[in-house]
Amino acid sequence: MDRFLIQGGTPLEGRVVISGAKNAALPAMAASLLTDQGVVLHNVPRVRDIATLRSLLEDLGADSSITHDEIGNTLEIRTRRLINPEAPYELVKQMRASVLVLGPLVARFGEARVSLPGGCAIGARPVNLHLKGLEKLGATITLDHGYIQAHADRLKGTTFYFDTISVTGTENLMMAATLAEGETVLENAAREPEVQDLANLLRKMGADIEGAGTPRICIRGVGSLRGAEHTIIPDRIEAGTFLAAAGITGGNLVLEHVEPQHLNAIIAKLGELGVEIQPCGEHGLEVRGPATLRASDVTTQEYPGFPTDMQAQYMALATQAEGSSVITETIFENRYLHALELMRMGADIVVEGRRAVVRGKRRLSGAPVQASDLRASASLVLAGLAASGETVIDRVYHIDRGYERIEEKLMRVGAKIRRMTED
Ligand code: EPZ
Repeated sequence: MDRFLIQGGTPLEGRVVISGAKNAALPAMAASLLTDQGVVLHNVPRVRDIATLRSLLEDLGADSSITHDEIGNTLEIRTRRLINPEAPYELVKQMRASVLVLGPLVARFGEARVSLPGGCAIGARPVNLHLKGLEKLGATITLDHGYIQAHADRLKGTTFYFDTISVTGTENLMMAATLAEGETVLENAAREPEVQDLANLLRKMGADIEGAGTPRICIRGVGSLRGAEHTIIPDRIEAGTFLAAAGITGGNLVLEHVEPQHLNAIIAKLGELGVEIQPCGEHGLEVRGPATLRASDVTTQEYPGFPTDMQAQYMALATQAEGSSVITETIFENRYLHALELMRMGADIVVEGRRAVVRGKRRLSGAPVQASDLRASASLVLAGLAASGETVIDRVYHIDRGYERIEEKLMRVGAKIRRMTED
């Protein structure tokens, strides 16, 4: 398993190119199942989760090819026919977003057999709303031996209310509804930019969708969808992570290929800590870390609130801020595993249920630490950049799931980080 070795204490300086959003590329790839034509996706990040979903789609019957060019990677997928309707446990357990093939498979082929994803480090993460919504659309859903068995002759439009706002739940049902008979209204839908990006792709494919980005999405079913070409939006969480990296090292970075309007809550909250962030051209941000960070409370919320996927990175920053910061995680029930590792580096954090109190400023010292999930890993990298001495981060396969060659991007702006590959 690969490790990162980081020598902390260097302020980061220079330019970072942000990759395409993993959480926009994954639903876009699943959407290719909705047509027998080719779907071409530009600016796809080269991360493990993309490779995992690509192999799942090929197992289902898709043909795909990927080319690498200067702005990222272009992925072409075409599913002429379904060879096998099953998303196996071995793949789904690696990446729960595999559940995104469920809606498209039922909508286009009338059947799907997808392993239940099971929980993960950050929470139980049920998919009950995905299933309840598909049943409301007319699918027959049975659960046996850990698999979701879904069947439908033709889905029928309906109105479905999400008890809890769910990003992939919204994406799954929006995709399924594009080929359903009649109109579907999704109430209390997720508003994330990734949901909006998926709707933009589906509309290019011929879908009739209004309201993506609002809590009420209206989809009028059509007979079939065509192929399309689409550029994936920039990754707002990768961008936020690099803003935090400048903040925690007192550095000065220019981020390129970003969509600033997707980062309003992140920019506002990091600004309260004293991190200065200014627009730099239409798709750039300049960020400067202050000599001293100030404590500030934060509560994670669904978009457009402060994203849960930035909570761990915020916590690392807060350890270096003067004063106490109260962090409240409202989306997932167990998303503080990184706190334990930060404490091993000298952070002063008290976790009580959904709340964590971070007392700063505490000097961090490098230590061997272990990553537990994608964003917790990012938090440990940030802490390592600020710590005195050497930090060794184990299990960096977590971070490779969602960050494209993060150590190369960091090295290019002065970080003393290298990857140790162990056989
Ligand atoms: C998406 O996960 C993202 N993943 C996550 O990013 C992100 O943390 C999360 O949204 C919240 O923003 C992808 O887009 C691939 P949810 P998702 O359904 O869709 C509950 C990362 O780091 N819920 O919005 O799985 C659930 O338990 C990952 O890139 C149900 O109860 O999250 C949670 O408490 C981590 N029943 C809340 O809703 C359901 O059927 C939000 O979950 C579905 C969800």
